Amino acid sequence: MLILGIETSCDETSVALVEDGRRILANVVASQVQLHARFGGVVPEIASRAHIQRLMPMIEEILSSRGLDLDDVDALAVTLGPGLVGALLIGVETAKTLAFARRKPLIPVHHIAGHLYSPFLYGEESAYQLIVLEPDGEGKLSAVGEAARQGSTGETLGQGAQGDRSGSAAEAAGASDLPLGFPYIGLVVSGGHTSLVRVHSPSSYEPLGETVDDAAGEAFDKVAKLLELGYPGGPLVERYSRGGNPAAFALPRPMLHSGDFGFSFSGLKTAVLKLINDLGGAECIRQDERLLADLCASFQEAVVEVLLRKAGAALEKTGRKELAVVGGVACNGRLRAAVPDYLPGVRAVFPPPALCTDNAAMIAGLAWHLRDRHRGCDLTLNASAELSLSRGWWG
Ligand code: KG4
Ligand code: ZN
Repeated sequence: MLILGIETSCDETSVALVEDGRRILANVVASQVQLHARFGGVVPEIASRAHIQRLMPMIEEILSSRGLDLDDVDALAVTLGPGLVGALLIGVETAKTLAFARRKPLIPVHHIAGHLYSPFLYGEESAYQLIVLEPDGEGKLSAVGEAARQGSTGETLGQGAQGDRSGSAAEAAGASDLPLGFPYIGLVVSGGHTSLVRVHSPSSYEPLGETVDDAAGEAFDKVAKLLELGYPGGPLVERYSRGGNPAAFALPRPMLHSGDFGFSFSGLKTAVLKLINDLGGAECIRQDERLLADLCASFQEAVVEVLLRKAGAALEKTGRKELAVVGGVACNGRLRAAVPDYLPGVRAVFPPPALCTDNAAMIAGLAWHLRDRHRGCDLTLNASAELSLSRGWWG
């Protein structure tokens, strides 16, 4: 069964073709990062406009380049929420229109559930395509294949040793080899979300705890902004941390011992701000390569330690030994490498970087498991900025 997935929840327009819930035939991402960079964050109106401009051409292209037509697709899937409502609406209304016109089933998918499903996907390297949209014109094809798997900035990010199956190895392993068994614990770490979830099945999610303020990715982005490194901050902080001493500065580990599965990162950001001021300001720090590396490494280590130790507590409570780490921050090389340090004996599964950041393959993949609940096209479906993970979005 071939499902066409559409994802427009934030600042990436993505379409994908996924077969039988796992095999990616194509996953195309048009990144708007350059459109938002000069504002230091995502501007919702710009995101919506870019989705409108790109989505239909991308759908036509993904099909025609494979000699396919919408009639060859068995169902459509779309991200219903959560996210920016104006951005979500573009995807949802486009999907409804196409599904209604072509009499296809339309399967709505929760964005975070999609992230939690991403470790189950595999595909040939040539299936991945990254387009970087530029402020002054059309999109520029940035990368196909291996490069597209490395993360949306095009730089080479760390590959997790544990459970990371990429490229032809993943293709060879294929459908017979499930990377995780249900129920499993998912650590969701993205720009908008940080949470621990027990995933009972593709349609049953039990949130264990989440951040009370900033998300982990947001903390990376804000610290990069304080240091005037650029946007998005996560990959930049990681890059500047290389060679730095993670123990150089004693930064707080917020809520490490709170006894629950909540997170908090705004206090850590404030501690970094104070440190930056004590060290003479961002410009002064940036001129001292060593100091910048030490500061970035110390901040990164504080985030990584809290994330992994709290995930460890969730594993212990539930008696599980397998962890899925998903979302944009799962691209982080130190987070991947630190698993044996903070979670000895735990098998952590990280999707390849191109499937950590927002993509439509995870939406089309998960939709396959929900196909029996959505045999038609429900025209009352509506985008939802605040969609609950634990209550019946799956139909
Ligand atoms: O999942 P995602 O693409 O979008 C959301 O749904 O939020 O995640 C984007 C977030 C951004 O905050 C970005 O800075 C962060 O993921 N990120 C990273 C890295 N790559 C992306 N954070 C730390 N290290 C990285 N290498
Ligand atoms: Zn996301």
